[in-house]
Amino acid sequence: MKIAGILGSPRKGGNTEILLDIAVGEAQKNGVLIDKISLRDKSIAPCDACLGCIKTGKCVIEDDAQEIYDKMVESDGIIRATPVYFWSMTSHTKTLMDRTYALGFPRLQLANKVGGLILVAGNRGCMNTANIFNMYFNYNHMFFAEFAYGYGHEKGEIKKNTFAKNMVKEMIHQMISLINASLKYPEAFDIPMPRFVRKKYQV
Ligand SMILES: Cc1cc2nc3c(=O)[nH]c(=O)nc-3n(C[C@H](O)[C@H](O)[C@H](O)COP(=O)(O)O)c2cc1C
Repeated sequence: MKIAGILGSPRKGGNTEILLDIAVGEAQKNGVLIDKISLRDKSIAPCDACLGCIKTGKCVIEDDAQEIYDKMVESDGIIRATPVYFWSMTSHTKTLMDRTYALGFPRLQLANKVGGLILVAGNRGCMNTANIFNMYFNYNHMFFAEFAYGYGHEKGEIKKNTFAKNMVKEMIHQMISLINASLKYPEAFDIPMPRFVRKKYQV
């Protein structure tokens, strides 16, 4: 079993990284291979909407997203971890989200994987951000484990938050159980619904 843990916080050793590290430790304790990928160390350009991926299933931008695509596709589970920035995710996190558009062609390459989410906000915005990931995982035909979140502003403040730390551990247990359940979307539905309807009804 493999999980990719993708960190979208620019703050090294910050609250989001602390929670992701707890997730990594818990996964390893349970015999799961977990690969931590820190987006702040990567060079990832924004999607330029060339839409070449629609024809080829590949993104033409040759940067660090390419190795992350491989890691995501090889994994059984994917955790996205981000602080809340203006009621949403960091730009690092969103840039990679947009670039994964390429993984939707010709079929959803992330389908049937289990999604996990770790959020840290100063005081508000977790639910807005989680809603976007709910839609994102749903679009990709992934199965979303219940997400873990916590509040804190200062670097390291989350260490005092026993609730958030335990939530992260339980999210890992849920992800492992969901992966073991081998849930699958029916093969007939291997693309997102709008594309499916356009194709089936020629509309
Ligand atoms: C640019 C920016 C925007 C932020 N926007 C929000 C916000 O909308 N809501 C909130 O509760 N906290 C907001 N915060 C606070 C962070 O979510 C909070 O400090 C968090 O602990 C940072 O996580 P980190 O330590 O992993 O960087 C913002 C912080 C920054 C730097």
